[in-house]
Amino acid sequence: MITNRMEDAFNKQINEELYSAYLYQSLSAFAANIGLEGFANWFQIQVQEEISHSQKFYHYISERGGKIKLLQINEPPSEFGTPLQLFEETLKHEQHITKCINDLMNLAIEEKDHASQIFLQWYVTEQVEEENNVKTILDKLKLIGNEGHGLFMIDKELSVRVFTPPV
Ligand code: FEO
Repeated sequence: MITNRMEDAFNKQINEELYSAYLYQSLSAFAANIGLEGFANWFQIQVQEEISHSQKFYHYISERGGKIKLLQINEPPSEFGTPLQLFEETLKHEQHITKCINDLMNLAIEEKDHASQIFLQWYVTEQVEEENNVKTILDKLKLIGNEGHGLFMIDKELSVRVFTPPV
C-alpha cells in the first residue's frame, strides 16, 4: 500500500505526463503547419513516449493498491515561433519534468517508501536521456540557424525517429 501523500503525488504526475503529451501534440501540429514534417514526426513520437510514461505511473499506483484520480489537463500553447524556439520550449519543459521526478524521489525518501524509490529510478535515468536528446538537437539548431539547407537536413534527421515502448 502506498501512503496518501505518495498516491496524490503520483496522480499529479500522471497529469504532468499527459500534459506533456498534449504540449508535444501541439508542437507537432505547429511544426507540420510550417512545413517541418520531420520536426512534426519527432514531436509525435514524443507524444507516444509521454503517454507511455503516464501509463507506467497508472499501473504502478494500481499495483500498490492506490486509487487513480485523473485531474484536468491544461490547455497548451499553440504558437511557438522559430524552429529553435520549438526545442527551447521542449528543453524548458523537460527540465520542469526532471524537477517533478526529483521532488517525487525526495517524497519517496521522506516517506521511507523503498519500492517507489526503485520505481522512480527508471524516470531519473529517463530524464537524463530526455534532456540530453533535446540538448543535442538544440545545439545543432543553434549552429545552423533557422533556415536554409541545414534546417532541411535536421528536418530529415528528425523524420526517422520511431517509437520504442519503454521496458
Ligand atoms: Fe515524461 Fe518527457 O518526460
